[in-house]
Amino acid sequence: MPALDILSELRRVLGGDAVLPRAQIQQHRHADWSGLPAQAPLALLRPRDTAQVSAALAICNRHGQPVVTQGGLTGLAGGACTTAGDIALSLARMDAIEEIDPLSATMTVQAGAPLETVQQAAARAGLLFPLDLGARGSCTLGGNLATNAGGNRVIRYGMARDQVLGLEAVLADGSVLDGTRKMVKDNTGYDLRHLMIGSEGTLGVITRAVLRLRPRPQAVATAYCGLSGYDAVTRLLAEAQRRLPAGVSAFEVMWPSYLDYMLAQVPALRAPLSSRHAFYVLLESEGADSAGHQAAFEQFMGAMLDAGVIENAAIAQSTSDATAFWRVRDATAEFPMLLPDLVAFDVSFAIADIGLAAQRCDAALRQAWPASTVLAYGHLGDGNLHLIVQVPDEQGIGQAALADAVEAMVYGIVREHRGSVSAEHGIGAKKRGVLGHTRSPAELAAMRAIKAALDPRGILNPGKLLPATPPLAQH
Ligand code: FAD
Ligand code: LAC
Ligand code: ZN
Repeated sequence: MPALDILSELRRVLGGDAVLPRAQIQQHRHADWSGLPAQAPLALLRPRDTAQVSAALAICNRHGQPVVTQGGLTGLAGGACTTAGDIALSLARMDAIEEIDPLSATMTVQAGAPLETVQQAAARAGLLFPLDLGARGSCTLGGNLATNAGGNRVIRYGMARDQVLGLEAVLADGSVLDGTRKMVKDNTGYDLRHLMIGSEGTLGVITRAVLRLRPRPQAVATAYCGLSGYDAVTRLLAEAQRRLPAGVSAFEVMWPSYLDYMLAQVPALRAPLSSRHAFYVLLESEGADSAGHQAAFEQFMGAMLDAGVIENAAIAQSTSDATAFWRVRDATAEFPMLLPDLVAFDVSFAIADIGLAAQRCDAALRQAWPASTVLAYGHLGDGNLHLIVQVPDEQGIGQAALADAVEAMVYGIVREHRGSVSAEHGIGAKKRGVLGHTRSPAELAAMRAIKAALDPRGILNPGKLLPATPPLAQH
């Protein structure tokens, strides 16, 4: 069916204001933060409720029309980027906080709600929604769930999927999976909620979630530590998990490459320590008891200093101190402006392997391209390393070819350590070619079978997540 007929059918069912044709969305952003190219889609759908999402998908499915679901467009893997033949489906109008149930400690929310709005609503109810990441003001809960986002407090609370008790999603044919249940325990067959979470818009459109809320911490202690080597970093992690009464809520590591570059490039940043070290750790412990919490934390830090685990540390004495420490870590939002041709990695390893893997990547990249910029930091408590690489194009081979060579080098090392090519950002359009580094042929075949069963016409986010089917062998 010609595109114009599909649009008029969509307009008839959803109403004119919910179907914006290409001409009306030229100024709209069609790409996420991945840096991948994108084109204006055929139209942008803005449904108001689940019934409209269902009706829209039923129409698109009947016509084999590709649909790309979009949240806040902050993704880093190109999952929400559109091509000219796609229809984009935005959840922006479905952003209601529908219910907070303080007794069950749950929040029922529509998928278009920005993460920060969800966090603030939980806080107003005296509770905590612990998922947190730098894009909190713009990313949506639906995008967080579709990418199974991680962020800064995974070490304590888990990934996005660990914050969800129930989920509503719409399949490609328009059928609605209503799983908005509030139970922690529910062993009633295949867990469709977890199938949808992390599926990056390829299996269904997430429309609503029942979130699990946690007690709001009464006290937060934060330190910025300098350490002499990777052994000391892992020892600090183990000791903090074992000895801090409230445990560890964040363990973020910055290599000097990252810190030195950021301090030089972002004039507003202040180094929390004036001394130099081989590693810097932002350690945070959230606790329930405000009276003894800071004292116990400071005693622990003193013991770590005495034992030689840390060389130096600044301990936050106020919220503004802690904010200043976090500013150094959250400055990553500046990268696209500072390093326009960057190649970014979001890889993971066993915690024991990260020090060596990072060192190998750094050494190999600098040997191949001595003028390259290589910055390392990450959510080390979760085994998650972020590498930012920029290589000047001295031979004039083009940035695309350089990026391919840089990726081949880093992903080769990831494969040798049996790491993951995506710890938290997802596969999207960017990493489908290397998914096979981490997932076996049998796993890929199972993923394809699931995709074919739930989206047989392949309308949901085609060209994303799953690698292109390998060509059949010639006989
Ligand atoms: P989009 O970018 O719009 O979409 C992302 C993917 O989800 C696409 O494949 C899209 O099709 C799909 N999708 C979106 N909504 C739905 C839905 N309702 N149903 C089905 N599919 C949907 N990520 C981390 O994990 N940890 C971090 O620490 C982190 N820090 C970041 C810091 C910055 C400054 C930035 C810009 C990004 C960061 N991210 C981080 C990336 C992170 O993945 C996204 O911010 C977020 O999870 C995506 O949400 P979004 O609403 O912007 O989704
Ligand atoms: C971070 C994002 C890029 O941790 O995941 O800074
Ligand atoms: Zn991250």
